[in-house]
Amino acid sequence: MNATRNRFVRSFAAVAVVLSAAFACAGEVPQLIPAPRKLVTGEGEFVCKGDVTDQAKFESDAAIPKEGYRLSVAKDGIKVVSYDDAGRFYALETLKQLAVKEGKDGVKVQCIEIEDSPRYSWRGFHLDECRHFFGKETVKSILDLMARYKLNRFHWHLTEDQGWRLDVPGYPELVKYGAVRPASPRHGTWPSSGSKEDAGKLNGVKYGPYYYTEADLKEIVAYAAERHIQVVPEIELPGHVYAALAAYPQFACRPENLAAREPRLVWGIEKDVLCLGNDEAIKFMENVVDWVCKVFPGDVVHIGGDECPQVRWQKCPKCQERIKKEGLGDHHGLQPWITRHFVKFLADRGKRAIGWDEYLLGDIPKSAIGMSWRESRSGAGHELVSGAAAATRGHDVVMTPCSYCYLDYGQGLGGDPFQYIGGRVTLERCYSFDPCAGVPEDAKAHILGGQGNNWTEYTWNEYDLAWKAWPRMLALSEVFWLGEAKPGFADFKKRAAAERSWLVRHGVNCAPVE
Ligand code: ACM
Ligand code: ZN
Repeated sequence: MNATRNRFVRSFAAVAVVLSAAFACAGEVPQLIPAPRKLVTGEGEFVCKGDVTDQAKFESDAAIPKEGYRLSVAKDGIKVVSYDDAGRFYALETLKQLAVKEGKDGVKVQCIEIEDSPRYSWRGFHLDECRHFFGKETVKSILDLMARYKLNRFHWHLTEDQGWRLDVPGYPELVKYGAVRPASPRHGTWPSSGSKEDAGKLNGVKYGPYYYTEADLKEIVAYAAERHIQVVPEIELPGHVYAALAAYPQFACRPENLAAREPRLVWGIEKDVLCLGNDEAIKFMENVVDWVCKVFPGDVVHIGGDECPQVRWQKCPKCQERIKKEGLGDHHGLQPWITRHFVKFLADRGKRAIGWDEYLLGDIPKSAIGMSWRESRSGAGHELVSGAAAATRGHDVVMTPCSYCYLDYGQGLGGDPFQYIGGRVTLERCYSFDPCAGVPEDAKAHILGGQGNNWTEYTWNEYDLAWKAWPRMLALSEVFWLGEAKPGFADFKKRAAAERSWLVRHGVNCAPVE
């Protein structure tokens, strides 16, 4: 801690006793989530009418970490000191959590000194809008909650086997064929085996067309930016592209498999992927990614890369020709080849690629960011692509291991009315997550942070989505903000129970805190 901050804490300690890294108190401990790094409560209250954030006076201090802030609430005024606008914004979010309504339009805030900054720069919330679509209003309400809990990356999964959600200029067929399913797995079928033979489990109900126009996307990007959230769009390639192939079957190795011109109707992984021997197919993806770079101003674009079967490539003359021409050895060389291609394509547009951990397999530039989801389970080549291994090799990594961060896994609640894909990720399990676990000391700087992932095969609507996301995202937000300094599950649970009441009062279908 620098000298300025030491003085700051010492001067206020006159009226309070420092109890732990995160909390100190003279009065009641405020119910903040995420907990601030340092908090000292004083005597008395600041009282005002109207919006308490209008009462804050701002100063800047270059010594404060990025996104960090100092917040002083005294009887005679509120002061915020930060280095950047994000820090100022988070100070006000903290202030909003501290404010208590009094009377008709009065507000009171306990006198307090807070010194706060994040452990990780990537604090993510992921949403799959391809299996099920939620729409702009739900996305905006998620962004509002992300801001409240100081989450700053909205990873938007917009293209998949089961749905394509982007109206890309010049490619009208994408939404005509890719954004509507003539049927989906029946609600309650458990779980789909992922094979086309599951047709008997289909509901026969048309789903869509559901998609976003360029104007919609720009509206969401702007809404997020106002909340210091970067939208990270995901364009899956070379696998999970079946909905795009329904629109343009000529970009598949076997166009005849796409004769029905419909997205994949059951869940699971599709074997028909992008034909990497077809220059036109690659040009199509380039045009999509180029447009995405223009619509989304952030510095990273997610290019998927997970779960790409290679069986079509093995038998495709065009793909075999590409392997020969590029000296790729065999079909295993194709995915690293296309990854290198898009890492460079993005770099030429001033962006970095991020992708699921499989895409780091092979000779991939170190500028490519990994998103680790499979942990250290065994499997061919897996040891090479675990998040820790990627960080050790020099890649930046976002940790989102499924056994801590997948919010479509069961949360272990008694009598839970909602359906999950399987697994078990309890609230306590989320809270116990350490993004740097198993990462060698000298590679820890490569761990950018973590993310909660909301896959939606078994999530049908916003109520279902909210139940699965909250309160588990509260736990993850504290992990991403405080890292090793988090105060402990028992402490968190008390604050989470209070915060759940706030969420429920504000119409969020938050699951119980258990
Ligand atoms: C994933 O869950 N397939 C990234
Ligand atoms: Zn092919």
